[in-house]
Amino acid sequence: MLEKSVSKSEKVPWTRARRWLLCFLMLLLLMLTLTLSVYNSNPQLSWSLHLWSTRSWSTKSSNNMTIQPDSMSSVDPSKIGQYFVAYPHQYHFILDEPDQCQQQRPFLVLMIPVAPQNRAARNAIRKTWARETTVLGRVVSHYFLLGLAKEGDGAETLLEQGKVLQESREHHDLLQSDFLDTYQNLTIKTMLILEWVTSRCPGVPYAMKIDSDMFLNVRNLVQMLQKAPQHTYLTGMVARGAPVVRDPSSKWFLPKEAFPDSHYPPYALGLGYVFTLDLAKKIIEASKHVKAVYIEDVYLGLCLRYMGIYPTDPPSGGLFKASMPYIWSNCYWTHVITTILNSPQQLLDVWQTYQTKAQTGC
Ligand SMILES: *[C@@H]1O[C@H](CO)[C@@H](O)[C@H](O)[C@H]1NC(C)=O
Ligand SMILES: *[C@@H]1O[C@H](CO)[C@@H](O)[C@H](O)[C@H]1NC(C)=O
Repeated sequence: MLEKSVSKSEKVPWTRARRWLLCFLMLLLLMLTLTLSVYNSNPQLSWSLHLWSTRSWSTKSSNNMTIQPDSMSSVDPSKIGQYFVAYPHQYHFILDEPDQCQQQRPFLVLMIPVAPQNRAARNAIRKTWARETTVLGRVVSHYFLLGLAKEGDGAETLLEQGKVLQESREHHDLLQSDFLDTYQNLTIKTMLILEWVTSRCPGVPYAMKIDSDMFLNVRNLVQMLQKAPQHTYLTGMVARGAPVVRDPSSKWFLPKEAFPDSHYPPYALGLGYVFTLDLAKKIIEASKHVKAVYIEDVYLGLCLRYMGIYPTDPPSGGLFKASMPYIWSNCYWTHVITTILNSPQQLLDVWQTYQTKAQTGC
């Protein structure tokens, strides 16, 4: 009897524990599925997920698990050129604001690469985060960097260019250079951002390269920079040990023939990174010695490695976010610095939420 009751009382907590374990596992599975579906809806996010998953593998590289599909990456040597861009090269600004930056002497300049026809993104940014021109007593300014609209029907390109000129006269925040504005040419755009800001903004301590589909909390950014290093500094969402993508169907494919290393040096993801202008100058110098791959954020990482300089992690986790979490806290927008959004309309909506939350003491 006693024995029976003992064995029974031992059995009950055991089955209960098993039931809890099962529940826990199912919850975990559910959360994983949700996260995956959110991540896959955004190409940039699947990249960071990819980074994350392969990074956790790469710790096991000694035991033969990191097999690269090298056979897939062999590429006709005459076609290697497509993975590099024409840089350094003398490009010309056909739209410029030559004196504005040195007159305003901002603490921080936001530099936003955007395609000429993406007026909706520019307008949403002007109504939201670019509107904050004095933050915590510091002047913040912004510029959009455009290339040339893609060749289509000649008359259409002219019409497009007319609209760009009109917009420039109205807002004085457009810079345009004479390279073809395509995805493959983003490295050129990024390097021109560095060239422009170092030559037109003397004495300015910080600049940020930020994509046009981002939420940006300028206040938190300025607050972070007020305590940040003032020289040789670059921060953002830093990727470490990222494997080179050898799958030819990927947006970030780079064959072995173009880049033999299996992993990239540390680099800050292109969605948004901040840097001191002295470092921007050094990167431009280094770029004369480093072949310009078309993946712009990786390229900056390669230039940094050339100099033996590495990106710095932000002072705390969760400031530079790629994705919006599936479930976010009430005060999410007042706590982050960046997050990728889906559309200009979503930026307008989120901005409204952010302002309301900020006023209600978040
Ligand atoms: C994996 O290990 C086997 C046996 O040790 C070796 O023959 C093979 O080359 C390794 N493969 C890779 C990709 O390292
Ligand atoms: C990049 O820009 C250059 C200069 O305008 C142009 O010649 C080249 O075709 C562009 N490359 C791509 C892949 O769009």
